[in-house]
Amino acid sequence: MMTSPASRDVRMLDLAAEFAVFGDDVRRVVNDVLESQYFIGGPAIAEFEAAMCRRVGVAHAVAVSSGTDALLCALMTLGVGAGDEVILPSFTVFATAGVLARVGATPVFVDIDEQTFNLDPERVEAAMTAQTKAIIAVHVFGQCADMDAINELALRRGVKVIEDAAQAIDATYHGRKACALGDLACLSFYPTKNLGGFGEGGMVLTNDASLAVLARQMRVHGESSRYHHTHVGGNFRLDTMKAAILLVKLNHLNDFTARRRNHARQYDELLSGLGVTTPHVPAGHEPVYHQYTIMCDHRDALAAYLRERGAQSGVYYPVGLHLQECFASLGYKPGSLPVTERACGRVLSLPCHPMLSTEDVAFVAGQVQAFSVAGGSTSGSTDTSALSGRPA
Ligand SMILES: Cc1ncc(COP(=O)(O)O)c(C=O)c1O
Repeated sequence: MMTSPASRDVRMLDLAAEFAVFGDDVRRVVNDVLESQYFIGGPAIAEFEAAMCRRVGVAHAVAVSSGTDALLCALMTLGVGAGDEVILPSFTVFATAGVLARVGATPVFVDIDEQTFNLDPERVEAAMTAQTKAIIAVHVFGQCADMDAINELALRRGVKVIEDAAQAIDATYHGRKACALGDLACLSFYPTKNLGGFGEGGMVLTNDASLAVLARQMRVHGESSRYHHTHVGGNFRLDTMKAAILLVKLNHLNDFTARRRNHARQYDELLSGLGVTTPHVPAGHEPVYHQYTIMCDHRDALAAYLRERGAQSGVYYPVGLHLQECFASLGYKPGSLPVTERACGRVLSLPCHPMLSTEDVAFVAGQVQAFSVAGGSTSGSTDTSALSGRPA
């Protein structure tokens, strides 16, 4: 049995420690932007877009104001609106579905694969109707959805595929990167993301030149030429300062992703045989572990057990979007999406950010083991000593 200290401060994220790595470069580029007095557009935006295109292997990138706005801009670009249905998972952040309501389209929530937490292509097919206009494939926790199957379906039915790659920058799928796998892709640079900015930020990416032109127009109120609006878009611009900072952070993404992957490997090893389900990685996938998410029966008790010993954890997501009050009119009920609902009750994300040490990961794994030994995560256990968070 592993031995570990009684408590240790292990957080889900340590942005201050990350900042110490690149803070001087950030201060320099912020100063450059201040000196230039260029706050909207300008070279930093174009440079960031070009860098992202090279990085993920996509022809066009449109920097926007958030991941949510990237999704909204992508929907507007595809002309999704009233009367259209869009298929998406319920096991995702609210933003993925909220944008559909905002363009007047109907979200059609589909259940997930119980091993990967991503859209189940068979259920996608079953949910398709003549009104289906698009599929949003979320690469949840940083692992790509089953894009070959989803694209094949979409092609057959003439619908478009949007990748919600907010959590999956640099994840690979059979040798290709997330964002290069659908018709349009969306990224988020929210500060907690793998490429987190200094404030809100996002991006729309595509290989389709005409979609790129439209997305650029949608970013600025649908303006096709100065003071001429062919569409009604929004103000989805990314600030120049944020792009300049993201360019600095991009230099560290390879290293930070490698660290996340190392933590995941360490967890995989240390948690095996403990009665918790570790992340399943199908052949041909290389996830980026935006979250390292396990499943166990006594999830809340385990979270409390870890918290008492100084280790944070997170529940993503405690409730499926199909059961959110604002979507009650869609008619979903508890039991409508059983795989999603079961996952919502059992998932627990463990700390996996780049600045963790191997000792941090070993500590967290050691606590999961201690909890397990106490009977906490053993399938079907009713041992209340574990539920109270005390090892027997
Ligand atoms: C899967 C997913 N989609 C969309 C978003 C929305 O991005 P943002 O918070 O930048 O608007 C997020 C981030 O919260 C996300 O994780």
